[in-house]
Amino acid sequence: MSHSLIEQFKEAGQGQVFKFWDKLSPTEQAALLEEAAEIDLAEIDSLFQSLVQGSHDAHQDFSGLAPAPYVAHPAHGGDQALWVDARKRGEEALSNGKVAAFVVAGGQGTRLGYDKPKGLFPVTPIHQKSLFQVFAEKILAAEKTYSTTIPWFIMTSNVNHQDTADFLESNGFFGLKSDQVHCFRQGRMPAIDLNGKILLSSKHSIAMSPDGHGGSLRALVRSGATQIMEENGIDVLSYFQVDNPLVKVIDPAFIGFHLQSGAGMSSKMIPKAYPEEKVGVFCKQGEKNLVIEYSDLPEDLMHETDENGQLKFLAGSIAIHTLSKDFINQMGGSDSSSPSLPFHRADKKIPTVDDAGHPVKPESPNGVKFEMFVFDALPFSEKTIVIETQRSTDFSPVKNAEGLDSPKTCKEDQMKEFVSWLSAAGETVAVDANGVPLQPIEVSALFGYDEASFSKSWNALTDKPDLSQTLDLT
Ligand code: UD1
Repeated sequence: MSHSLIEQFKEAGQGQVFKFWDKLSPTEQAALLEEAAEIDLAEIDSLFQSLVQGSHDAHQDFSGLAPAPYVAHPAHGGDQALWVDARKRGEEALSNGKVAAFVVAGGQGTRLGYDKPKGLFPVTPIHQKSLFQVFAEKILAAEKTYSTTIPWFIMTSNVNHQDTADFLESNGFFGLKSDQVHCFRQGRMPAIDLNGKILLSSKHSIAMSPDGHGGSLRALVRSGATQIMEENGIDVLSYFQVDNPLVKVIDPAFIGFHLQSGAGMSSKMIPKAYPEEKVGVFCKQGEKNLVIEYSDLPEDLMHETDENGQLKFLAGSIAIHTLSKDFINQMGGSDSSSPSLPFHRADKKIPTVDDAGHPVKPESPNGVKFEMFVFDALPFSEKTIVIETQRSTDFSPVKNAEGLDSPKTCKEDQMKEFVSWLSAAGETVAVDANGVPLQPIEVSALFGYDEASFSKSWNALTDKPDLSQTLDLT
């Protein structure tokens, strides 16, 4: 076996990747070489030295950390006039076709135990519409409101790309035009064992996994998404995660604040519900904003309170951002002037093969995966703004099969929001002690996507539905 790539792997001490080479068919050999060609051996070696041999996430420096400032929501004493202004600015941008939606959907959804792409997960209370359908309807509703076209970028990974693309196509893109929906794959990184050796997932394939949602910045540029933005006059991407159907996919006030502040990247926060809540926290270090992931935030800072007894590091990240096209190009470009995001280490049970090539399913973590986080781009944004939002109108992710952040809590939260819209429209709905309606309610974004749009449609109904029964406004 003489192939220069194989030689390079051997020289880098990674010859085990080709351990079964002589037993592979030509097709398997070609597949293995293709994967190997994606790997930057020097990068892997340096990550091994810094993150595995060195201390965990050695780049994290907590000195001089302060809470990040944010614009308070009017419901929490924020200046209503500021929000009205920002909303106006955002609506203008929307009407002028300057905004696109962007969901990161490349993750593997292991915690939920769902074996299809997470965007296919049935999430609504009555119709069990998928997460992707919920987002598509929100985009359609915004398009109607602002008489515009809103392109939708969807980042997938090798693991789920085809299934995602097939699902959207076979469902007619849920009413969107096929040429406004752009699915593209993120990059991959190999997993290594605790000695720095790249792991195989079978005799002829490397244990590759998605490079984290931080890979989205590179992938947006590489896939041509930023080019599409350029051609369509799009300035801003509204970024959200696939697990959160409550998200305001298009939020004019947020877009307005972002544009007014001239930021490259902006973010939404909610006050953390309790110190250990598993959300990143917005902090400030020197002049820069940054997010410290929940797993990295030191215990003392996590629990620290201010003079009013309120959590000092209160601003929880719900992974909703706006990104300007120029900032994406700056961060995701391939030339040497583009800053690179740091990688984080995650210890995982990585299925692999033994010396005889038999599959091994480890019982405990046997290796390390490397991921980039998109919020690590924040410190690179010269200007940035964090605005407060309300949990009840923006955040109820589906992460776990049961308990907290599960399909059950998410359906309840969707229904609670519908109840609040009905109340604002002057209706009374019977609810239990937690505010969950006694009869199921489902409202499509095409009927109403917030209090005002719901009220408008509701008031226009000549024949009001009976609120003591299931309410289906889809
Ligand atoms: C994430 C955030 C956390 C935030 C919380 C809010 C990280 C590391 N943490 O936590 O700060 O408070 O959400 O819900 O992100 N994804 C990809 N490609 C990948 C990996 C993930 O597209 O390679 C996507 C997933 O499809 C999902 C999102 O990123 O849409 C979040 O990923 P996940 O790993 O579930 O993050 P959390 O740990 O829940």
